[in-house]
Amino acid sequence: MKILGIETSADDTGIALIDASGEFGSDFSCKIIANAVGTQTMHAGYGGIYPNLAKSEHSRNLPLLLDKVLEEGFGITRSQIQNPKQIPNHKSQKQNLDAIAVTVGPGLEPCLWTGINFAQELAKKWNVPVVPVNHMEGHIIVSLARNEEGARDQVSGVSPKTYSLEPITCPAIALLISGGHTELILMRSFPGRTGAVYEYIGRTRDDAVGEAFDKVARMIGLPYPGGPAISALAEIARNKKQETNIKLPRPMLNEKNLDFSFSGLKTAVLRLVEAEKNPSTDFKREIARAFEDAAAEVLVEKTFRAAEEFGVNTVVVGGGVSANKYIRSELDRRLSTVNCKLLLSPLEFTGDNAVMIALAGYFHALKKEFAEPDTLRANGDLSLA
Ligand code: KG4
Ligand code: ZN
Repeated sequence: MKILGIETSADDTGIALIDASGEFGSDFSCKIIANAVGTQTMHAGYGGIYPNLAKSEHSRNLPLLLDKVLEEGFGITRSQIQNPKQIPNHKSQKQNLDAIAVTVGPGLEPCLWTGINFAQELAKKWNVPVVPVNHMEGHIIVSLARNEEGARDQVSGVSPKTYSLEPITCPAIALLISGGHTELILMRSFPGRTGAVYEYIGRTRDDAVGEAFDKVARMIGLPYPGGPAISALAEIARNKKQETNIKLPRPMLNEKNLDFSFSGLKTAVLRLVEAEKNPSTDFKREIARAFEDAAAEVLVEKTFRAAEEFGVNTVVVGGGVSANKYIRSELDRRLSTVNCKLLLSPLEFTGDNAVMIALAGYFHALKKEFAEPDTLRANGDLSLA
């Protein structure tokens, strides 16, 4: 099945084309024909996403990214597309495309609507079915993607990017960490003929961990998104074995539940930053390191406890924050002590992208879970359970 994925839930616009076949856990294989992401950089000055700006950027990006994907995927050149502002109407795509998968939530509703309207218009023009996708399910599925050596194309000599999905035994735990979410999910079954069954077992009571990274970054003068910048500073401090007096709280660490809280940690950082008259580079590095240590410790400890409590032997981790090197290595260190298998999203897919939406869409398309034309609705709080 060839699936066109469309993602617009936050500040990244994504369109991807995949060619997938087979069943999860047996013969699944997927070729990524084209993957285009437009990252919006203009939010840097706001320290977070500015929804109306993000929405208009999605509207601007979508037709351009579609052109790019069509060109790579179907060999249609830009010049063959009469008016790039309009959705192109070519006979060839219709024959080649089996479904359009689009994110319907969770996320910022004005942004979600942009993708949904674009997908529905395309679907009508090309007469292909639409599959609604939950963004978080996309993050889970793409965490299992593993690059395989693809067979060389006889004509071009190029090896296509071919992926399999790491098989997992359910129940398993998913830790989803991003700019909008911090969740522990019990996966009772996984996509396939039977369909996936998810249960929330823990979540943040206030800020998401990615949001906390972004806010702390802003406090010490780093641009949005702050995660990668905080992580880089923290690594320097760790490597220099810098002595530090900074002590930050581990919110909810000792409570007997699997929930998280990051707003107190963020406020604790703010107090320290405000008390420092002229924050030096070393001070900023120490802050970054102390914050990353605290965030990592609660994430790792609660995930470990979740695995123990539910007796699972597999933990899957996805979402933008799962790119964090320190969190990845700490999860690995802790979970390996109990022989729990850790499956991390490939770094190329940790941030929002449309490959993950196309992949999740494929499993729903297999079960023919298509939406009736023009019935899709954006749902900012869409749940997995
Ligand atoms: O999944 P994602 O791309 O978008 C949402 O669905 O929210 O996640 C974005 C979040 C941002 O908060 C960003 O700062 C964070 O992921 N992030 C990181 C790192 N890379 C991105 N946080 C910590 N360490 C990183 N290396
Ligand atoms: Zn995301």
